[in-house]
Amino acid sequence: KRKMILDLDTGIDDAMAIAYAVGAPDVDLIGIISSYGNCLVDQAAINSLQILELLGATDVPVFLGEPHSSTTEHFDVMPISQQIHGMNGIGDVNLPEPKRAVEKQSGVDFLIDAVHQYGADLTLVPTGPLTNLAEALEKAPDIASTIGNVTLMGGALTVPGNVSHYAEANINQDAEAANAVFTSAMPLTMVGLDVTLRTLLTKTETQQWRDLKTTAGAKFADIVDYYIAAYDITSPDLHGCALHDPLAVGVSLDPSFVTTLDLNMYVQASGEDYGRTIGDPARLNDPTNVTVALTVDKDRYLKTFMNYLTTLFKAH
Ligand code: BDR
Ligand code: CA
Repeated sequence: KRKMILDLDTGIDDAMAIAYAVGAPDVDLIGIISSYGNCLVDQAAINSLQILELLGATDVPVFLGEPHSSTTEHFDVMPISQQIHGMNGIGDVNLPEPKRAVEKQSGVDFLIDAVHQYGADLTLVPTGPLTNLAEALEKAPDIASTIGNVTLMGGALTVPGNVSHYAEANINQDAEAANAVFTSAMPLTMVGLDVTLRTLLTKTETQQWRDLKTTAGAKFADIVDYYIAAYDITSPDLHGCALHDPLAVGVSLDPSFVTTLDLNMYVQASGEDYGRTIGDPARLNDPTNVTVALTVDKDRYLKTFMNYLTTLFKAH
């Protein structure tokens, strides 16, 4: 089984990423780090604990990450995030108070220790800002060459951004951190809007969860229906909601869901294109540092996604 850590700003698609990792038969989810973004960092940690309990995965520890980027003093949730993920990050659906508490060790230290312990056997999937990973890199630069794989949800190469014309939300929260990660030479795969906006879920699928007549099925249907309703308003042409974060987990386990291009990329950290993930022609002869997902076999992915989540929800 693959050792995996998720680093999430636990909103609705992050919650589906947790379910994918818990439901995948070949994953040993050793911990979740929380980040800010769709909600505040403390709320993200609570949401992760609640989702894990809903899925019966109470053995997975949750660690607190950084509350904001290192270039800002504090973080406020953007109104658009509240519109898409609800005030509590999980569609304003109420879940029971988590029984398990957040761990005392910081998320950054947990990540560093895990890389030192598992090295090449460890996969990290960040689906929020890259602040925690950049902080870990600064404290322990050796992790760049020892971690097995980092498959992140973030960025956009062939499509415009979703928070500005250039920038995708996760990268835009902390472009400095993202640039430090992109240029660190760690084994990196970027699962950006190029593929996630082409991998959609509809109410047909959430109805299948509701029909299971289990608590997990009903709660996940409620949570994801909130997200679909928000997409119907903000992106009516898509006819569904984007499976951003669970696609990154899927690609980390089975890279054949996507076709890729290896590039030398950096992240623009100033100016009007702040947050842009871009290949630099001046660096064409430099070694590539990012494997970028360009196309996706969405039908095969969706089949696997539904198989893992439905099997899991049926049991809880
Ligand atoms: C990303 O931003 C967050 O709102 C989502 O959870 C996803 O990780 C999409 O741009
Ligand atoms: Ca996310």
